[in-house]
Amino acid sequence: MAMEKNRVFSLLIVLVLWFMISGKFLQTAESLTVGINYGQIANNLPSPTRVAGLVSSLNISKVKLYDADPNVLRAFLNSQVEFVIGIGNENVANMTDYSKALSWVQNHIQPYLPRTRITCVTVGNEVYSGNDTTLKSNLLPAMQSIYAALVALGLNKQVNVTTAHSVAILGNSYPPSAGSFRSDVAEFIQPLLNFHAMANSPFLINVYPFFAYKDNPDSISLDYVLFRPNSGITDPNTNLNYDNMLYAQVDSVYSAISTMGHQNIDVRISETGWPSRGDPDEVGATPENAAMYNGNLLQRIAMQQGTPLKPSVPIQVYVFALFNENLKPGPTSERNYGLYYPDGNPVYNIGLNGRLPSMSSSASNPLTLLPELVLFMLVIVTLFWQL
Ligand SMILES: *[C@@H]1O[C@H](CO)[C@@H](O)[C@H](O)[C@H]1NC(C)=O
Ligand SMILES: *[C@@H]1O[C@H](CO)[C@@H](O)[C@H](O)[C@H]1NC(C)=O
Ligand SMILES: *[C@@H]1O[C@H](CO)[C@@H](O)[C@H](O)[C@H]1NC(C)=O
Ligand SMILES: *[C@@H]1O[C@H](CO)[C@@H](O)[C@H](O)[C@H]1NC(C)=O
Repeated sequence: MAMEKNRVFSLLIVLVLWFMISGKFLQTAESLTVGINYGQIANNLPSPTRVAGLVSSLNISKVKLYDADPNVLRAFLNSQVEFVIGIGNENVANMTDYSKALSWVQNHIQPYLPRTRITCVTVGNEVYSGNDTTLKSNLLPAMQSIYAALVALGLNKQVNVTTAHSVAILGNSYPPSAGSFRSDVAEFIQPLLNFHAMANSPFLINVYPFFAYKDNPDSISLDYVLFRPNSGITDPNTNLNYDNMLYAQVDSVYSAISTMGHQNIDVRISETGWPSRGDPDEVGATPENAAMYNGNLLQRIAMQQGTPLKPSVPIQVYVFALFNENLKPGPTSERNYGLYYPDGNPVYNIGLNGRLPSMSSSASNPLTLLPELVLFMLVIVTLFWQL
């Protein structure tokens, strides 16, 4: 009888230990659903291994790169972070050649799967709002060869193929229900949308209400762009009320896409953010406004809000950016979009208390799993002790 009791008791211990272990793993799965852009146009950023530690301390589960930096992809091996990787505009022409596209996928995606979760590749950035006509005509063929390469390797269900646009491709964005593409862009967009529908990949846009505000600070309400309480703007065609510009712009894109005959293409925000510093003529670029914009945006993401047009589709956002990037050209604001300074200090406080590991430690340090290992050993020992 004493033997029986002992057995029941240790079974209980095993169960409790098991729940403690699995509970720990469940917790890490409960990460923020916000994504972050990890731009690297800088000469003072911490090593990718330390950045992996920072990202994990922030509980951020999605990272977007502008390239396919092997040092970054290796640093995040086994991290559960989902990656969007990029093919730069300078490499788009090459990718129109299927054999080059195939070897790109074989060299930059395949080796990391499945241990680094690459779920999307963006081919080119803001191509249709630029001036390079060759690049514009090469974009879709490049996307098609990358897609064909993924199909050939059996990876097209795991990895989406898309490109990121500036909202400058919209000719009209107000009211949102009247959103439409610029006429010079429409000829490219129609076949692109057909591609998205065929490949089931999302339409990505970079949206910066800051630009609109900076250009018209007298006529655009700061509350409306910073997600602060305001009466909003009502779309006269739909009667939908918009309390912020970001959602209005996303819905303009949905309307523009719908005008071209597509109802089932997801729109996602590949970049949005607010600079903490700017030149004297860049009105609104302050740490207070940046904290307000990004902080309020995070709250809305946490609430899984959709836009007024698609209330049941939570907005999917990659915030720009993780770090200030000191080598970005252009106005001062361009170098000041980061949530973090390169030394790991937050630029402003929005309640994200991440920590950049020191030089000597690293995120993938196996010692971080020590408690789990000890518990696991205990379980095994208890089991054997009974047999
Ligand atoms: C990350 O998640 C852990 C466990 O849920 C929590 O204790 C921690 O505060 C979170 N960190 C951030 C920056 O949200
Ligand atoms: C494009 O391909 C050519 C020939 O293979 C190569 O020399 C060049 O470096 C490639 N360009 C880029 C940007 O990768
Ligand atoms: C394209 O060219 C126009 C006129 O030359 C110029 O105003 C505009 O800034 C250019 N756009 C880009 C993205 O270079
Ligand atoms: C690819 O995009 C589609 C459409 O947005 C989405 O439903 C799917 O989950 C994405 N696939 C991956 C692997 O992220």
